[in-house]
Amino acid sequence: MVIGSTRPTRICGGIATWVRDRLHQDSDLGCELVDLAEIALPFLDEPVKAAAQQYEHEHTRAWSELVQGYHGFLFVFPQYNWGYPGVLKNALDYLYREWHDRPASLLTYGTRGGGKAAEQFISVLHGLHMRVLDTHIEAVVTDQDLGPDGQLRDLDRTLRPYRARLRKIGEELAEALSGRE
Ligand SMILES: Cc1cc2nc3c(=O)[nH]c(=O)nc-3n(C[C@H](O)[C@H](O)[C@H](O)COP(=O)(O)O)c2cc1C
Repeated sequence: MVIGSTRPTRICGGIATWVRDRLHQDSDLGCELVDLAEIALPFLDEPVKAAAQQYEHEHTRAWSELVQGYHGFLFVFPQYNWGYPGVLKNALDYLYREWHDRPASLLTYGTRGGGKAAEQFISVLHGLHMRVLDTHIEAVVTDQDLGPDGQLRDLDRTLRPYRARLRKIGEELAEALSGRE
């Protein structure tokens, strides 16, 4: 699961943790959080395009290895100005073949669920030849859900309506991964 916001006061980490814990409860999938804030990739600085896999920088090799270690991905990120966070696009653009054929889904959030970000992101996943699952989540997070500190007042109350959909994503992911080690 990729945490797609790196803002210091982000709500993304809490949302991603909630999602991981529910997936652990509702499925046999082994999920780990990959925090782009910790990975801290610079803006794409490889001289050769990713398809050639001739990586000059250690940070790219480490990112490539990390991504290759996972069989599937669930991206969790907010809508920013009708799009998705640039840090996420940067992280995707670093690699190419590593994403191929990996099943992927997403959970976006925003005042209307982040559907515009989801649409753009799905298009990019197709460009990377990922296997986009049928189900994704657009979670509505409004100002009423946030406390004065800008954090979610009650994570479970805000996200509970999406639990059944999340279970479905877990099933689709498990199905896509069946037969793999
Ligand atoms: C740069 C920026 C752009 C935003 N644009 C949108 C938007 O287009 N639609 C929306 O519903 N919320 C938008 N928001 C509000 C975010 O959904 C809200 O700040 C959320 O907490 C961001 O997720 P994060 O805290 O994990 O970074 C925007 C927030 C930021 C910081």
